[in-house]
Formats: sequence, C-alpha cells, structure tokens
Amino acid sequence: MDILRKQFLAHVGQTSPSPMMVEVDRAEGSCFYTPEGKRYYDLVAGVSVSNVGHANPAVVQAVQEQAARYMHVMVYGEMVERPQVRYAARIAELLPAPLESVYFVNSGAEAVECALKLAKRFTGRTELISMRRAYHGSTHGAMSMMGAPEGEEWKGAFRPLLPDVRAIEFNDFAALESITGRTACVLVEPVQGEGGVRPPADGYLAALRRRCDETGALLVFDEIQTGMGRTGAMFAMQRYGVTPDIVCLAKAFGGGMPLGAFVSSREIMSTLTHDPVLGHITTFGGHPVCCAAGLAALEFMLANRTVEGVEAKGALYEELLSGHPAVVEIRRAGLLMAVELGRSERLYRMMELFAGRGILSDWFLFCDTAFRISPPLTISEDEIRDSARIIAECLDTMLGEERRNLEGCE
Ligand SMILES: Cc1ncc(COP(=O)(O)O)c(C=O)c1O
Repeated sequence: MDILRKQFLAHVGQTSPSPMMVEVDRAEGSCFYTPEGKRYYDLVAGVSVSNVGHANPAVVQAVQEQAARYMHVMVYGEMVERPQVRYAARIAELLPAPLESVYFVNSGAEAVECALKLAKRFTGRTELISMRRAYHGSTHGAMSMMGAPEGEEWKGAFRPLLPDVRAIEFNDFAALESITGRTACVLVEPVQGEGGVRPPADGYLAALRRRCDETGALLVFDEIQTGMGRTGAMFAMQRYGVTPDIVCLAKAFGGGMPLGAFVSSREIMSTLTHDPVLGHITTFGGHPVCCAAGLAALEFMLANRTVEGVEAKGALYEELLSGHPAVVEIRRAGLLMAVELGRSERLYRMMELFAGRGILSDWFLFCDTAFRISPPLTISEDEIRDSARIIAECLDTMLGEERRNLEGCE
C-alpha cells in the first residue's frame, strides 16, 4: 500500500471498514482520473451533486472570481452579499409560489434539521412524520426521520433520538389518514433516492398534499437529491405538479461546493426571526463562494437547456440496459436510476467488475440489490452508449462466472 493510502487509513476519519480508496487526480465532465491516468465514468456524480459536470468552466470561473473578491465576512443573515441575494432571487423565480424565501445553510442534513424546526415553530405542534426507506441525513434530527425499520441498523446505537416521530409507508394512500391535527409536518422525498429510486404512485403526492391541507400539517419536500434537474424537471415538485410548504435543497444546489437551503413562504419563514430571535443561526451557511458556484451552475443549466435533455438521456440508458438477462427491473426518474439485479451477491460482484473496468457506481443505503446510474446531467450520448456497453459487458462476465460455477458444481 502506498504512503498516501496508509495516511488515509491512519489519519482520515473513516466511515466504513471498506472504503473505495481510488485516488482522484483530476475530474472533468463525466469522468475522473487517477494519478496513473486511469479513467472512470462517474455514474454517481458525487451522489447527485455534479449535475453540470466536473470542472465546469463557468462554475470554476465564478468560484475563482468570488474567492478573490471576498470569502467569509460575517455570520449568515446580517450582511447583503451579492452572490447570496442573487441566487435566492433566482431560486424564488424558478420555484412555484409561495416558495420565495430562501434560508441558506451548509448541507442537506442541516436543511432538514431547519425544516423540522420551522414546522414545529410555525404550527406549534410536535409530531413529525417521515416515510419508510427514507434518508434525510445523518445528524440527530435528520437521522430521527430515517424511515424505520430499514433505518434501525443506523439509528439503534444513537438513541434516544427525537421524540414524537413516526414513519408511514411511502405510496400507501390509506396511511395518509394517520396524519392528524397533531402533526407538525410530513417530510417526504418526492422520489425516494436511497430507498433504491422509488417514484411516487400516480396521485400519491397530490393526496398527501390534500391530507396536509385538511389537517394543517406542513408538507416538506426533501429535494436534496431530486432537485436541480436530476429528475428531468428543475425540481421534482414540478414534474409531479405538487407544491410543498417547505422544500429542502442541497447537493447539486451548490454546483459542487457545500451548500444547502430550505425554502418556504415569507409568512412561514418569518417565524424564525422572533420568539425566539435567531431561531436558527449558522456561521458559514450561504458562503459567498458556494452561492456563486451554485448560481453559476444554475445559469449554465438554463442557458444550455440541460434539464430539457435529461429525460431522453435516462430513457437511452434504460433502452440500452433493460433487455439484459441479468437486469430484473429499472426504476428511474430522469437520470436518477436504479438497475435492479434482485440479489446482493450479484451487486457486490458487479461493483468489483465495475472498478476494474473504470465505472464508478454504487448501491443505495436501503437497497443493496440495485446499482446506481446518476451521472452528471451533461453526459453526452456517446458517453452514455460507451458506459452502457461496459456495464453490459460486466453483466455478461458476471453471468458467465455464475454459469461456470454452476457447471463446476454439477
Ligand atoms: C434525500 C437526501 N436528503 C438528505 C441528504 C443529506 O444530505 P447531506 O449529506 O448534505 O447532509 C441526502 C444525502 O444523501 C439525501 O439523499
């Protein structure tokens, strides 16, 4: 093992016993490269972050210019910082009314934390409802909303978590009845990501919206993974025609820099300014360099009509892979895609084969039988065809190995 990997294991806090440990030298467009010059197709995009491609020149320029002008000056919310104000105004323009007040934070988990606090503060209620197989982040509050029982493995060691939290089954219309006048909010990913890409059933989000309206519960969309064009609309709420009371954004929202936000009406958001004053505070939230990067990425997508091409790109991957005998099912919303293999042993073998062939994919936190295809939205048709060809060859290799193992047993 080389010195850098030894230092990585010795001195960089680890998240698992088996990190990928591929050294990144540089990244560009849909690919990244190791110091030895090996190319990887990035079919994870940093988990739905690098939507405008790695080292996008417009984003790089915005970061360089803003870093040279000013970086951190004062905690969030006090000063008028041009990149922050311009980004907030642009997001408010693109989101449906009344989502017009953007509160910037640092990450997805923090956006979720704040959305929960805001819902409690606005409604004066305490019950928080999430969905089974949901992932909303790893801090105490966000982890509390991790959909049990799949989340138990993660949550168990960290209890006690938030009280008065309940998970209902996603896409179960009957379960909506359990939302009541006690409920502060229902938190939902419009398309479940870490559950293995589960789109909403027809009419489900509209029925959820109606039930929230009937009971006075706030509807909170976690668009941290689905936002910024990933599903083929700028925000998944537009694809499904349902407007929440609060939406959480992060990941691609920062154009590759760390940035999150929760957005609501001014009426709801204003409750964070009093009783108590400073209801949520953050030092670095809305960092000017991150806002400049996010805004540049957004303007790039709008100028290049990037989002308009997403559905056709997802459909092309689906067409190229769905007929393969190892593929049980493809679940997809735009370029958020799960290729279901039905068995975790198959998935683990595919990850090894992918690594050898220069494909970066991953499984999902709550689904270890499917691999992920969520590349930069800027991926070209040629790159889709080439990466799908390599994937199909890896699937062939895996089936061939299984066949030979079976013959060896006979
Ligand atoms: C849907 C969803 N919500 C929240 C988060 C947490 O975001 P972060 O890792 O920035 O805290 C994630 C991260 O994967 C996510 O996919």
